[in-house]
Amino acid sequence: MRARIRHAVFPVAGLGTRFLPATKTVPKEMLPVIDRPLIQYAVDEAIEAGCDTLVFVTNRYKHAIADYFDKAYELEHKLERAGKHEQLALVRKILPDGVRAVFVTQAEALGLGHAVLCAKPIVGDNPFAVLLPDDLIWSSGDGALKQMVDRAGQTGGSVIAVQDVPRDQTSSYGIVATEGFDGRAGRIREIVEKPSPEDAPSTLAVVGRYVLNPAIFDLLEHTGRGAGGEIQLTDAIAQLLSRETVEAFRFRGTRFDCGTHIGLVEATIRYALDHEVISDAARQVMQSALDELGVEDLK
Ligand code: UTP
Repeated sequence: MRARIRHAVFPVAGLGTRFLPATKTVPKEMLPVIDRPLIQYAVDEAIEAGCDTLVFVTNRYKHAIADYFDKAYELEHKLERAGKHEQLALVRKILPDGVRAVFVTQAEALGLGHAVLCAKPIVGDNPFAVLLPDDLIWSSGDGALKQMVDRAGQTGGSVIAVQDVPRDQTSSYGIVATEGFDGRAGRIREIVEKPSPEDAPSTLAVVGRYVLNPAIFDLLEHTGRGAGGEIQLTDAIAQLLSRETVEAFRFRGTRFDCGTHIGLVEATIRYALDHEVISDAARQVMQSALDELGVEDLK
């Protein structure tokens, strides 16, 4: 059993070009699903998994993320005076007591691997989690990261979240080949960034949750630019494979790729249909939209 994983790293310094023009001023991670920004879902998942030090790797244009996690004295005061206690509680629980947020700047968007490396001075020689907030994971039981932290606690190795994808989509993901995969977890033998469907060693794709041992930092320091001219986390993980056990872990839950338009729409529909207050209304508006468009059969 290893020590509790306290650090969660959120690489949020990407440009979010797929959501322009919205992301000209609103960071992708601040786009909402119903009433919470994507970053809040990821933060809640990290806290549930036991993390108490949240490291945001950001860039100088993304003030909105730091502002969001800062205390809003004036707003709290106004809500208090207006007797809006429910809303006040919502604002206060953005960052619960005992959890701290640390901001690190990635001066240049040199890639996900480089962004993770920027967290090294805060994380130090500790195992840590990485969460990409645009991968939103819905789960009815334990969150995906909690499942992975539990697994890492048993094995002591690094654990990487995977899900099955259609073969024609392998070129959008890091793809792993495993040995002894029991349907839930298995040791990674090979990891390849964005292979063509013909070259992909499997259809198990890496998604945005990682539990990593600090050895990854030394490897990242010596990782050159890879696919797309960026310093790729996948390339450093590929080197980690020969040093220690790195497991692929198929989490229980549904992942929405909110870095794409359709993924954000899909997540919004799913969370609306599952929402304790608006689910009935959501069903009705969806039905009337389909009726209005004359869509009878969605199949
Ligand atoms: P993406 O590949 O989704 O890139 O990065 P992006 O810039 O966010 O979005 P698009 O493709 O232009 O629309 C995956 C994750 O890695 C982070 C992003 O913020 C995102 O969480 N990232 C990427 C960094 O923090 N720094 C980088 O240099 C690159």
